[in-house]
Amino acid sequence: MPDTDELLDCLRSRSAHVRAAALERAVLAALNWHPDDLPLRRLGHCYRELSASILSASAAGGLATGGLGNMSDREAAVIWGVIYGLRSFHVADRILTPTIDFTKGLTEVGGGWGPIALWSALRGGTVRIVEQSAARRSFGASLFSSLGLSADWSGRWRGPSDLGDMQASVWSFSLREMAGDPDAAHRLLLQSLDHLGPDGRIVVMESGARAGSEFLMEVRDRMLKAGVAASAPCWAKGMCPMRAAEDWCHFTWRLGLGPIGQRIAALAGRKAHEVHVSWLSFGRVVEGGGAGRVLAVRSLGKQGLRLTLCRGEGRQVVDVPRKLARSHHAFEEDLVGLNVWVPSAEASFRVRAIDELKVVSDDDVSHGT
Ligand SMILES: C[S@@+](CC[C@H](N)C(=O)[O-])C[C@H]1O[C@@H](n2cnc3c(N)ncnc32)[C@H](O)[C@@H]1O
Repeated sequence: MPDTDELLDCLRSRSAHVRAAALERAVLAALNWHPDDLPLRRLGHCYRELSASILSASAAGGLATGGLGNMSDREAAVIWGVIYGLRSFHVADRILTPTIDFTKGLTEVGGGWGPIALWSALRGGTVRIVEQSAARRSFGASLFSSLGLSADWSGRWRGPSDLGDMQASVWSFSLREMAGDPDAAHRLLLQSLDHLGPDGRIVVMESGARAGSEFLMEVRDRMLKAGVAASAPCWAKGMCPMRAAEDWCHFTWRLGLGPIGQRIAALAGRKAHEVHVSWLSFGRVVEGGGAGRVLAVRSLGKQGLRLTLCRGEGRQVVDVPRKLARSHHAFEEDLVGLNVWVPSAEASFRVRAIDELKVVSDDDVSHGT
């Protein structure tokens, strides 16, 4: 299967461009749809309608949960595959490696066709997907099997036993939709953590708009009160410093759509080059401190980069010589979301220079090293 092997390699690529184009190939192959036969205008129209209903619900502080209009299952699968699901697949690549040990099994809850599960299965992880929509399960099952990957599928959420015998559970853009409010959401997560056991981890991703982030912060407050640590991206034990600054915690990455997704987005008048997300990881490990999470990166030209860090107790701005930053990561935006160790940084708000910038894993931070 040389073609499939090459496709699998591209899906595992660290390059967002390669990954996005590969996912498009995989989605269309699973749907048995030749790229030249795609009704792009129609798909652009469908995406515009769906995106408008999501945005207007979000502006009103709610969520659009239906919104598929008169799209066929196949058309919906393309939109969920090459646009929305691709974004989750991209974000998984940024946040999951340092956050969870997916080799001990992962369940994606409210998984749609399973973009997070796909990310993990591509790396040899055992995966389960809990999804109420038969159409999305059916498309996901075709996609996984056309790639020679396996996954367990189950329907509407019945309770924590649906998580199976896995150590991690990821709720990607689904917790708010499933639980409705932060009280119900935190109960759902507490019961799920009990099921996952002492080493269990839960990662929740929501929209990077204020409403998605506020929802997560409300859930976080309740989890902290219940003695559960929010171990990533933050390890602040009190109020979120971003909230104290009347901002909201979210991350923006330049993780673009593939060529077909870009054409659909252009026809829909939507942007195609960025992903905005708020996320949290919950576990029973409570220690932490010392490092900083990169919230934003701004170029200072030849002077280097200005990083805005969240250090738990507050925000901090540090200027980093370009050479130093580049020695760790090829692209500036790769730094967003990472934990960095800044040894010479004092607790003061502004630090002009640092001796060393070291990227650390979330586990190192959790264990206080
Ligand atoms: C916005 S989609 C996210 C899909 C996928 N996780 C992703 O990142 O692309 C939310 C999904 O949650 C599913 N969902 C909502 N409530 C559910 C429930 N009670 N049980 C199972 N799935 C549910 C929806 O059908 C939908 O596919």
